[in-house]
Amino acid sequence: MKIIRAKDYNDLSRKAANIISAQVILKPNCVLGLATGGSPVGTYAQLVDWYNKGDLDFSEVTTVNLDEYRGLPRTHDQSYWYFMQKNLFEHVNVRPDAVHVPDGSNPDAEAACKAYDQIIHDLGGIDLQLLGIGPDGHIGFNEPADHFPLGTHCVDLTESTIEANKRFFGGNADLVPKQAYTMGVGTIMQARKVLMVANGKGKAEIIKQAFFGPVTPEVPASILQMHPDFTLVGDEEALSLI
Ligand code: GLP
Repeated sequence: MKIIRAKDYNDLSRKAANIISAQVILKPNCVLGLATGGSPVGTYAQLVDWYNKGDLDFSEVTTVNLDEYRGLPRTHDQSYWYFMQKNLFEHVNVRPDAVHVPDGSNPDAEAACKAYDQIIHDLGGIDLQLLGIGPDGHIGFNEPADHFPLGTHCVDLTESTIEANKRFFGGNADLVPKQAYTMGVGTIMQARKVLMVANGKGKAEIIKQAFFGPVTPEVPASILQMHPDFTLVGDEEALSLI
């Protein structure tokens, strides 16, 4: 595990974007696993900036996102599909048919999850997986549990996650979908590189628990301690307890 200390959110975003750029430059046809949430927004903005300057080319890149709310159509402004379009895909030259997000509009959970695992399998796995971390230690939408789920599956979101994410739904927890489709912890662990971004005081306690506490499915991110190529980029606040 490598820990990179950034001064602030801007610095964190540049450092994380640098690692992703290196991946794209070294392997132009790489598979990038991407994440949503507030943490990676600055990283995406930095990548767009470098793309606009002509320093990056996404024409051969394929992407697979971690998760999607079950029941939200792609057009919903809080779907993760929409988030990715607005924060990255619309601004760079990634091919529209090379971007993948679980199909939240498919009510058949088993079929939606199986199809997503097949996509990842057919791509030959993920070269670099970007992650945020939830306040309860979730990665993607893998919530605290009694085991580490392997493949894509449907989850019931915890109260803590619904509370944390209601800010995107006008502060109304009732509007937050109660389930999601998420890539499994097994798939994340199989990514050849994993990069986590964490910022702000709110993440300090969970960062300490996840990376300096026991490896347990009660803190899903803790398993990353066992990943052979895991990098955490955090700002001073998020890393203040370690
Ligand atoms: C959501 C996403 C996660 C993300 C987490 C943290 O629950 N499913 O992938 O890591 O939020 O979000 P934030 O970065 O906004 O704290």
